[in-house]
Amino acid sequence: MGEGRGFGKTILFGEHFVVYGLPAIASALGSTTTAKVEKADVQGYELIDNRPETPGYKERKKKEYEKLIENVINFMGVKEGIRITLGGKLVAASGVGASAACAASLARAINDEFQMNWDDDKINEAAYEGEKGPHGTPSGIDNTAAVFGGLLRFKKNLEGGPNTIEKMQIREPVEIVLADSGKTSSTKEVVDDVRKLKEEKPDEINPVFEEYKSLAEEARKALIEFDLQKVGQLMNKNHGLLQKITVSNSELDEMVGIARDNGALGAKLTGTGRGGLMQALTPGKELQKKVAKALEEKGYAVFRTKIGGN
Ligand code: MEV
Repeated sequence: MGEGRGFGKTILFGEHFVVYGLPAIASALGSTTTAKVEKADVQGYELIDNRPETPGYKERKKKEYEKLIENVINFMGVKEGIRITLGGKLVAASGVGASAACAASLARAINDEFQMNWDDDKINEAAYEGEKGPHGTPSGIDNTAAVFGGLLRFKKNLEGGPNTIEKMQIREPVEIVLADSGKTSSTKEVVDDVRKLKEEKPDEINPVFEEYKSLAEEARKALIEFDLQKVGQLMNKNHGLLQKITVSNSELDEMVGIARDNGALGAKLTGTGRGGLMQALTPGKELQKKVAKALEEKGYAVFRTKIGGN
């Protein structure tokens, strides 16, 4: 039996902007999706999906995952029937890179089962093909975080050449809180909407992209200098820009407000938006606990984790 895993991720800066070649910063999460692959007497593949989920996620994403799995299988040239068993602690939800973690773990497990000897770059290519199922036109940041882990700055090469992937180090891992709006969103739909908005209202939207460009440079510097106050402020600013491109919603804004009112240094949506997750920067166990509790009291499911340590 072949085995593999893929990291979940959170985007600290730059979701959506990254699709247009602007740099984004993501951190892998400690939770992973695991895949087991074994040869089986079936047509194509059989899927056993034991991942924990936000209610309704798997049903809503069924078609997209079918495409994801087919894309990975075809890209890797698997001709035999296989049984795939997904598991691990990463909750299948919008915003944590669940589909990318699945694609990465599947590619690794196929590589293991069929002794293909692919290196991480090739595995990442397979995971990217998989991501095209749910995403349509993914930037590649989610699969890159899922395959390589760690904290990374990612810039898509719009000409089709290799993307820029810069591994970043921070002084020590930092506590964050992720909170789930409970709503599953479609990355493809939201990315398509942003594209339409950009085409229809360039005078309004292009300046937002320009603002993000300088924010991205400041964010990189603040992280390297470990200036967490500044990182938090920039996260708040980034959330404002995401609101302007219409990818936030009332639950996300409410969660961001609760986190900030309870002392988070900064808070923003993470990932696709219009549902999915919010992330708050809460250095130290005490602050993390306080913010998590306040969100839980309002009925939101929370995950406490760290960035920069996986
Ligand atoms: C989704 O996790 C991140 C987006 O920027 C899409 C992408 O980068 O492909 C919304």
